Amino acid sequence: MTITVAGSAGFCFGVDRAVRMVQSELGAGKRVATLGEIIHNPQIVAEFRRRGVLVADKIDESLCGYTVVIRSHGVGKDVYRKLAQFGIETVDATCPFVGKIHKIVSSQEPGTVILVAGDPQHPEVQGIVGHASSEAFVFQSAQELADLLTNCKFPPDAPKIMVAQTTFNRNEWQKCEEILKKVCTRFTIFDTICSATTMRQQEAESLARESELMVVIGGRHSSNTKKLYEIASQFTRAVLIEDANELSGVTMAGVRKVGITAGASTPACIIKEVQKTMSENQNNQEELSFEELLDQS
Ligand code: F3S
Repeated sequence: MTITVAGSAGFCFGVDRAVRMVQSELGAGKRVATLGEIIHNPQIVAEFRRRGVLVADKIDESLCGYTVVIRSHGVGKDVYRKLAQFGIETVDATCPFVGKIHKIVSSQEPGTVILVAGDPQHPEVQGIVGHASSEAFVFQSAQELADLLTNCKFPPDAPKIMVAQTTFNRNEWQKCEEILKKVCTRFTIFDTICSATTMRQQEAESLARESELMVVIGGRHSSNTKKLYEIASQFTRAVLIEDANELSGVTMAGVRKVGITAGASTPACIIKEVQKTMSENQNNQEELSFEELLDQS
């Protein structure tokens, strides 16, 4: 069995930076809190909890005395205001690529319609909307954008801009661009999909095309991991696991080519562990077959 690990698997720049910022604050002896889990990886979150990091779900006086780290997804302006009101020390780990979107949407003239391609429930999208200088509309697909433009709650000739959640599906984004160009005259498109995401999705597709099984590693709540799983599933059998322990439930019989990819929040050590466990399982199986062969003779 050959096992190929995607070159782009694992931590992206923004996640790596956020994790390092938490480590650095802990190293400086600070009491650290994060607004929500710092990344969608249960092992890393558990390790930080063990080292005393508080995962907060709201901002109030209980956070005074903590250094609050804002995670890579970013937050809206109201969150910065609230942190300042309580005088809470803040470390901003918003990914610079997300920060760029905040600058775009916060610098628009009043009356500009801000169109955001993404999941309205996702914290990154909520943060983007929370920076918009005029009304923002979120849609999840090209069809939803078409419906929004047809039944518009804004003047049809109002100037528009369109941005995307950094992990938005590139194929769907291209369809959104076509619709906007067809229906509107005054608009600017900002392609804000992160290149790390694009590369990871493309690599997942090409690896899935040549594999009999794709193992996607990542947190079950991670949207970019779920997207990788969806993409891989279109081309081959795919499984989503959080760590090597879950490999015991994966059928490998008869599989000769396995591809491995991982979401942006998956640490390298977990990817290595999965790869190692698969190789060991394979060796054990080979030994067993040899013994079985001797038994039969
Ligand atoms: Fe930033 Fe791209 Fe990662 S936007 S958080 S580097 S997926």
